[in-house]
Amino acid sequence: MADLSFAIEPVYLATVFLFIIALQRMSHPLTARSGIVWAGAAMLIATLVTFFTPNLTNIALIAIAIVVGGGFGYIAARRVSMTHMPQMVAFYNGMGGGAAAGISAVALLGPTTAITASLAVAGGLIGAVSFSGSLIAFLKLQGWMPSRPVTFPGQQPVNMVVLALAIISGIFVVLQPSWVPLSVSMWLPLFFLLALGFGLLMTLPIGGADMPVVISMYNAFTGLAVALDGFSFATPNYAMIIAGIIVGAAGSLLTLHMAKAMNRSLANVFFGAFGATEEQAAQVSGSMKAIEVDDVAILLAYADRVIIAPGYGMAVAQAQQKVKELSDLLGARGVSVKFAIHPVAGRMPGHMNVLLAEAGVAYDHLFDRDEVNPEFPGTDVVLVIGANDVVNPAAHRQGSPLFGMPILDVEQAKNVIVLKRGQGKGFAGIENDLFYRDNTRMLYGDARETVGKLVQALKKL
Ligand code: TAP
Repeated sequence: MADLSFAIEPVYLATVFLFIIALQRMSHPLTARSGIVWAGAAMLIATLVTFFTPNLTNIALIAIAIVVGGGFGYIAARRVSMTHMPQMVAFYNGMGGGAAAGISAVALLGPTTAITASLAVAGGLIGAVSFSGSLIAFLKLQGWMPSRPVTFPGQQPVNMVVLALAIISGIFVVLQPSWVPLSVSMWLPLFFLLALGFGLLMTLPIGGADMPVVISMYNAFTGLAVALDGFSFATPNYAMIIAGIIVGAAGSLLTLHMAKAMNRSLANVFFGAFGATEEQAAQVSGSMKAIEVDDVAILLAYADRVIIAPGYGMAVAQAQQKVKELSDLLGARGVSVKFAIHPVAGRMPGHMNVLLAEAGVAYDHLFDRDEVNPEFPGTDVVLVIGANDVVNPAAHRQGSPLFGMPILDVEQAKNVIVLKRGQGKGFAGIENDLFYRDNTRMLYGDARETVGKLVQALKKL
């Protein structure tokens, strides 16, 4: 085959531009899908051009791995439902971290300098932590292990000792001091075992409610590990370095954004074991008051302003299409309908935006928390569809585990109608006193069925 290795570097550079264009397109719901296609194309081009690397061996094994991995990814991605997306992201993210750790291991077993070996050890440590940590996150989100925090006495000191031992063994791998008995090939497995153990131990005490933040942080870790690995070769791999840095930076920003939206510091997420203890006695009084579909339809039909606040339950029920139908019907009657989107409504960033955009809700009908909160006092009806934590006024009450979380202040509307199946709590497992307020009525049932009935009732009016 002709030597086309001269093309590798320029093509890698071109793919970096494609990644940046992709990222830019992903920042708006209308162009996000095409952003994914751009990023996928860039990844494909970068993978193909790598085959022109001189003296590449094991081509058959590489091809088999690509077919098996790519085939599995394709089938899994086609089958997954939106509500199971976080665990899928956790799984793929873990695979990325594992691959980065594998690349470090290969680099460390080959010829290295002190600098390239140090970078490979750093990449290996971060990649391995991301691998085992993401797998625990996957198991918790998938419900294959309890999602509550797993804690034991002396947990933090034990974690710190394991991390320190991993770092020390990594230093031995790099320096290979003569007074240390074992060779690199002996220290290396120990180093990786300790790094994997640390990822596991670090994730066990984190509760399910914080998992999306954790996944996003491991995503940033994987990017960082890949970038460090890119430096660990004799000739740096610029595609890995730049793509890794982009993922690392984007993942870090997303992590901070999510933590801010939940009003949690990262230290609190990682060391707070949120949800490990039962909440102090719920501060609710009175009772939940039910309402019938026909009464809600009348309220809606004769309202001037309606705001719809969707949450995870709308995603579970796949009610978005019916919700769009309802909002169109109300719009046709001259009712102003807005959607209030909380940044962490659902189970992943942008969850509600994606579902509503898919159902054809115009983007200019969606309003974020800061835009919509001042409007609730002048709103006739708020329809809370399968949302709970993001509308829980307990967030304003000192002492509540939710205290300080910025919420949608739906309780200030004249009428609040909450659509949910029963008396189930939200993701944080905390009682919601909104449901007991005088201006709140509960419309029980699966959100899709209930909204479907509302549509029928409205059509008859
Ligand atoms: P949740 O607090 O999870 O509440 C969802 C509600 O939907 C439940 O109370 C449930 O009550 C109801 N529900 C479930 N299935 C339903 C169905 N088929 N029909 C109607 N209702 C149904 O949702 P939220 O308010 O969207 O809050 C999201 C939570 O996830 C927050 O705690 C947030 O911090 C966390 N979180 C989200 C993210 C991102 S980025 N989105 C990241 C980290 C954490 P019933 O069982 O009674 O029906």
